[in-house]
Amino acid sequence: MAYLDTIFGVAGKTVLVTGGGRGIGASIAEGFVKAGAKVYICSRNPETCAETAAGLSGDGTCIALPVRGDISDAGGRAAIVAEMSAREERLDILVNNAGALWAAPLAEYPESGWDKVFDLNVKGLFFLIRDLVPLLEAAGTKDDPARVVNIGSIDGFHIPKHETYAYSSSKAASHQLSIHLADQLAPRNITVNVIAPGMFPSKMMQGTIDRVGEEKMLEKVPLKRLTGPDDMAGTAIFLASRAASYITGAVIPVDGGTATTL
Ligand SMILES: NC(=O)c1ccc[n+]([C@@H]2O[C@H](COP(=O)([O-])OP(=O)(O)OC[C@H]3O[C@@H](n4cnc5c(N)ncnc54)[C@H](OP(=O)(O)O)[C@@H]3O)[C@@H](O)[C@H]2O)c1
Repeated sequence: MAYLDTIFGVAGKTVLVTGGGRGIGASIAEGFVKAGAKVYICSRNPETCAETAAGLSGDGTCIALPVRGDISDAGGRAAIVAEMSAREERLDILVNNAGALWAAPLAEYPESGWDKVFDLNVKGLFFLIRDLVPLLEAAGTKDDPARVVNIGSIDGFHIPKHETYAYSSSKAASHQLSIHLADQLAPRNITVNVIAPGMFPSKMMQGTIDRVGEEKMLEKVPLKRLTGPDDMAGTAIFLASRAASYITGAVIPVDGGTATTL
């Protein structure tokens, strides 16, 4: 057990999970809390995050940032960074999970929908990382770098059958951006990796699952099930652990084989 704690343990680490109030972010937050980390969560709705944090606090430490942290907006990002800097001198793990999707027929695809998706999934991701680098750099060492884990999507490397043009291209951009940042931040003892989930039954995806039908959606999933909370938490904890201290610039599909076998 001591061996597993050494290579996979994240107890005592400080983690920030964006969009941690629900869905994949809440699953990742829960995993880190149960593994003994000190977990902060944030989103545009501090009330939702406070409820989630209260629910997780029986298992360990989960703190909702009391700010309206809209990551697509400079003011929202500044509020998150100010709050984290006031509370912590170091940040071991940043999980950039907050994301948005917009679906519309090509002829009607609105510029506002495009901007909403790119402002969060690409621009917000980039500037939040930029502004949290000082806290991450303070935590990282050569043997145990600080970690940035970005939540991309398998839609970033295969073409979805839905008209989510901004989403798929924003996720491809976030993968490329993560690899670029991995290169730049390695000398500063910060790794940057991506988890690319398959279909996870969150608010974002549940409508599609209900409309198309789970059985139909699973036709192209070799392992024949949806992505689950442990798949997300387990991969994030791995990427945050000593076991992954020599991995950077990786994009890991956690999708039952969907994207790699199509
Ligand atoms: N579900 C899937 O099948 C799937 C597959 C591949 C990748 N992903 C990715 O996984 C991540 C999590 O998605 P999910 O499925 O868990 O969706 P979700 O349930 O809709 O959760 C999205 C989270 O992001 C937050 N958020 C949205 N806009 C924000 C903004 N402007 N600023 C800050 N926070 C914001 C939301 O909180 P507030 O509304 O309170 O702000 C919420 O906590 C996303 O990056 C998504 O693209 C999901």
